[in-house]
Amino acid sequence: MKIAKSLIIKILIFTLAAVSNIVTGQANLNKRAQWFVNDRFGMFIHFGLYSGAEGVWKGEKLRNENDYAEWIQYRNRISKEEYLTLIDNFKWDEIDPEKWVILAKNAGMKYVTITAKHHDGFALWDSKTSNYDVTDYTNPKRDIIRELAAACKKHGLKLGLYYSHWVDWEHQYGWDHTKEISGISPADFDKYWQEKVIPQMTELLTNYGPVGMIWFDMWIHHSQTVVTKDQLLQLKKLIRELQPDCLINSRLGLSLEEDNDVDFQELGDNEFGRNKKDFPWQSPATVAHSWGYNRLDNDFKSTTSLLQSLISNVSLNGNLLLNIGPRPDGTVPYEIEKRLLEMGEWLRVNGESIYGSNAFDLPKGMNDWGVITTKKNPYGTKLYLHLFGLPADRKLKLTGIKSTPVTAYMLDDKNRTPLSFIHDEIITEIALPEIFTEKLIPVIVLEYQNSPDCVVDLAAQNIEGGYCLTSLNSISEVEQNILIPKSRGGTVPSYLSVKSPTVLRWKIYIDNPGLKTIDASYSYQGKSMNNKINIKVAQNELKHNITNTGKTVGEPKSDWVIDNFRCSVLGTIDFIEKGYYEIEISITPQKNEEIKFQWLWLK
Ligand code: GLC
Repeated sequence: MKIAKSLIIKILIFTLAAVSNIVTGQANLNKRAQWFVNDRFGMFIHFGLYSGAEGVWKGEKLRNENDYAEWIQYRNRISKEEYLTLIDNFKWDEIDPEKWVILAKNAGMKYVTITAKHHDGFALWDSKTSNYDVTDYTNPKRDIIRELAAACKKHGLKLGLYYSHWVDWEHQYGWDHTKEISGISPADFDKYWQEKVIPQMTELLTNYGPVGMIWFDMWIHHSQTVVTKDQLLQLKKLIRELQPDCLINSRLGLSLEEDNDVDFQELGDNEFGRNKKDFPWQSPATVAHSWGYNRLDNDFKSTTSLLQSLISNVSLNGNLLLNIGPRPDGTVPYEIEKRLLEMGEWLRVNGESIYGSNAFDLPKGMNDWGVITTKKNPYGTKLYLHLFGLPADRKLKLTGIKSTPVTAYMLDDKNRTPLSFIHDEIITEIALPEIFTEKLIPVIVLEYQNSPDCVVDLAAQNIEGGYCLTSLNSISEVEQNILIPKSRGGTVPSYLSVKSPTVLRWKIYIDNPGLKTIDASYSYQGKSMNNKINIKVAQNELKHNITNTGKTVGEPKSDWVIDNFRCSVLGTIDFIEKGYYEIEISITPQKNEEIKFQWLWLK
């Protein structure tokens, strides 16, 4: 009887957990995309005739700095007949799509999206619509999509299909950028659409089992192209009818205002998240630069940097689709495979912080040592602190949470050996282990009984124990037009262009009272001695007369003379006790003067 009771309680808790996952969090925004926001990490595969050229045509490298090898036919102006001869460079008896799926699985990826048809118009399946397909040119006949679909099913990964709907260099009436010169009538383009796009999409959505997503690739809005809204709606309707669960990415080409029924936003190539979004989104990314295999492209990102991209995206509710470009014999370049497997090793140990995890409520960048993801369950909330940088004294300060954690431990520690910590108002200081067993990105778990209470408007202490106060972490409304972005390769930092009296305020929490120095970094190019900075904090005032900061040279070129941003010590302030403080800066320029204000530094 006792056992039965506890079983019922367990079932109840599990049901609650499942329900709470559904009713809270990002997945709730679109039922169809639930698996996608849960899975977070997928594999992109660029494989096609272009893989046979390896980024080089008749001894010449690809004609574009971006090294996108899949563009070689267009870039290097190759005729269709000659392009087709690339088919002979492949080892069709060795290529094994299952190996790509196994690699994806070992890398901790949960879905695979392959270029079923890229811009060259060549289909990787046995297309009945067009004989410009792999099956018609191979012996024994290959159907890469069928084989990949079977491997995905076998290994439990979702299948995604990239389909280039706008650009098609093979079909007489498909889009090819040179048509910007020669022109194409809407009626002709519609012939391509009805003759090739719609029937091929019907084949893909009918003959290959469940398709997890269709990945379109129109990176500008359709109104700037030959494609019409009606054509896109026709395509979308077809997908919804044939496979109601299939996701559609935003590169379909309709804006959200026109039609909010795409399933996730696709960022630009190698563009990573900048802020938290609730709508599902994803970054497509490469390990080096090219998507298709390019033997000259060897500027590989490190495993740590790839992991940081994945984790940072998840910390803002995003996914990562990381690309492989297999060689014409089907193998994946060692450098890419190695990095993927290392990511997989990390995920096998630390995957709990990624799969099914979401963004936390603290603003991006508030704590400068790394990023946070979170997960809720009926027992409480877990926070995962991913350490991208380490404080020298091995004491990690997390700023912004009022609640005290129940426990802290390293995610890779099976014994969950508690880490000691002190919680003071909104700072949790965790003593880090002397040596991490996790060598790439260590993760600390903090467990809370309930949803932790956050204070989101604080400027947090950074890793060196100081406070860097900028317009970004200030609590004042900053006029957007005076916010000047960095320029000249970052040698001129971003700053506030202050031409009339301006006040900025920050809220900070001081946990170690005492005498602290305040510095300001600004640039001033005029001659007046009457421009002023005034600081108010804790009933103290510091006054500073701005002086000319001169020029500096950013790079050794004659036209690279730039305004100097100099750091001036404004004075010291005694913070007598622990607590919250407001710091205010007033910058008062004279008429027709400009002060370029960068930051205050308090330590
Ligand atoms: C770009 C390129 C294409 C590549 C895609 C990946 O749109 O045109 O070659 O497949 O990005 O995101």
